[in-house]
Parts: sequence; C-alpha cells; structure tokens
Amino acid sequence: MTISLNSPIAPDLEKLTNYLKQVNESGWYTNFGPLHQQLTERLEEYLGVENLLLVSNGTLALQVAYKTLGIKSAITSPFSFVATTSSLLWQGIDTQFCDIDNYSYNLSVSKVEEALNQTPDVNGVVATHVYGNPCDVEGFDKLASKHNIKVVYDAAHAFGIKVDGKSVLNFGDASILSFHATKVFHTVEGGAIVFKRKADYEKAKQLINFAIVNGEITDVGINAKLNEYQCAVGLTILDDIDHILSHRAELFSLYQDNLTGLVDLPQWHSLANTNGAYLPICLNSTEELAAVAAELSESGIQYRPYFKPSLDSVFPQVRHGNLEVSRDISRRVLCLPLHFNLTREDVLKVTSTVKKGL
Ligand SMILES: Cc1ncc(COP(=O)(O)O)c(C=O)c1O
Repeated sequence: MTISLNSPIAPDLEKLTNYLKQVNESGWYTNFGPLHQQLTERLEEYLGVENLLLVSNGTLALQVAYKTLGIKSAITSPFSFVATTSSLLWQGIDTQFCDIDNYSYNLSVSKVEEALNQTPDVNGVVATHVYGNPCDVEGFDKLASKHNIKVVYDAAHAFGIKVDGKSVLNFGDASILSFHATKVFHTVEGGAIVFKRKADYEKAKQLINFAIVNGEITDVGINAKLNEYQCAVGLTILDDIDHILSHRAELFSLYQDNLTGLVDLPQWHSLANTNGAYLPICLNSTEELAAVAAELSESGIQYRPYFKPSLDSVFPQVRHGNLEVSRDISRRVLCLPLHFNLTREDVLKVTSTVKKGL
C-alpha cells in the first residue's frame, strides 16, 4: 500500500454544512463577511497575534506585504518554495540572493549583513522559516534596526510555532501564512498576513479590495480577499487544530528518534516548538540520496526533494554571491511522508526503509 507524502485534512461535513448554510442564509459570500470576521478573531486568539489579515493565498500575501511596506530592493533565500522569490520578481522588486546557514537551512544573518554593507539601497529582507523552523529572529531584529530595513517572514510552514512562548509571527514587520490544502491548517486555498503595525494592516486591507475606500479608488490595488465558503472550511478545521498539531508533532519526534545520528536533520531553533509540517532529511551525498529514493519508491513510499533546485538556477536575473550551502543542501535533501492521516506504524516503515538505503 502506498504511503503518501501528504494528505490534506478533510473538513467534517456536518460542521461545514452548518457554516455554509449560514452563508447562504445571510447572502454574504465574500468581502469581509461574518465568517471572515469569526475566522480572523479565532486565528488571532489561537496564534497569539494582532493585525491578522486573511487573504486568498500565501503568494498574494507576500506580494501585498511587500507593497504595503514599500519594499523596492530585497534580499532573500534561494532555499525556499519558488513563491518566496517569484512574488518579489512579480512585484518588480530588485532582488538578490544570500546563502543559507549550514545547520538550520534558513537565510544566514551574517551573509545578509555582508550583502547589506555592499548594497545600501536594499530596504527589505524576506526570510523563510524553512519547514516551520524559526529563523534567527533576534539576529534579523538587530539587523533591521541597524540598517533600517523591513523584514518580511515567509511563515507559510510555521503555523502554531512559538519562540520562547511568543508566536513566531510577531517578529519582523510582517509575516505571511499559507492556508493551502497541503498545509497543517487550511482553507483549501488561502493565507494571511500578520502585521506588526495596525496602520499597515489597515492599508493592506484596502489594497486587497482594489484599494477602493468609500467608493473612491485610492491606489493601485488588487483582489486578494478570502471568501466566506473558504472561511467555513477554516473554521471547521480550526476546531480540531490542537489534535492535528499534536499528532503531527508526535510523528515528527518519532522520526527524530529513529533517524538522528543516521542522517542530518535541520537544527531546530532551541527555543521553538515543532508543528510537524515537514520531515526533511539531508543525506551524505547525491549517491546516498539516490539509494534511499530507490528503496522508498520500491516500497511504495512517496518522497519529495524539497527544496530543489536552489532558486538561483531558476532565476538567473537575481544577483548573488557565493551560494554553496544552498546549492549543496538542495541536492541532498528529501522530505519524507508527514501528515495527519499517517500512523506511527507508517513512520516506522518509512524509517526502516530509509535505513536500507544508507
Ligand atoms: C515557503 C512557502 N512560501 C509561499 C508559499 C505560497 O503559498 P500559496 O500556495 O498559499 O500561494 C508556499 C506554498 O506552498 C510555501 O511553501
């Protein structure tokens, strides 16, 4: 039997139907309706944040965040999902890559600092909490004050992650989440931006509704609103979120127990919890990766080289210096199955299959 890499959470149909009935009865299908309001409030409370703006997907969340904060020239990581960089290029933002840290696989604060010293025009950094593992947020905080830059975190993987008890979404000028069906919490498609400042939240809320304010067009806006049917999915799933996150985190730690010392796992932020969003392993060589991949395929276990390739090979127009860590890690990394419908037995089957390939 196949063990799938991912498996989206199916919302409880009875609960979902109740929410959908409310939408049909109110006749308010989109444009900041009552379910949008409820989901916003419940997410703010659950995540421990303020100024959370729901949007139609994580990619638009990034684009709207850049526009709201006035980012014109940015540094980002080549070791992320393509949208982290493509969103910058789509906005016409002058973009450069810096390398990642060898242990966490997150954008390196020291490499960014070197680049900032050479390119004073840069006014933004976009850093991904890769696999949900928090970046060096304190390091980026210091850099932001010293160089007067905006920091946007791509927190698409970091739902429910805290650093020393404080939501990771509270760092930087803005953080974005993705609520795509494959994420730990989802609205089929969807996302959110968490702003540090209320004024930015207010501005972004106008931008995602064509920048129309009291009937007047006030700026170049876009349509990035999350509709009521999708909010219904979110509200339904949110009821079970503790259970979902704890099951995933338990499987994550079972993987760790069985693989630590045999393969490299990204070094997790020492003050952060885990949400079991992904299970990346880094093999010693591309040959070892091929051997492990062959064993997994033979046993019907899905895997994904993620993130591959290092994005500098996809976007030659993006300037960069030395990116040897990103290039190296992206050739040796594999994500193993991890989702809510996975069992402990599945994890043990996956880990014993990985061991056969080592
Ligand atoms: C790191 C990262 N950033 C951005 C996105 C884009 O989110 P969305 O698919 O909701 O547009 C994703 C989605 O998979 C992601 O993994």
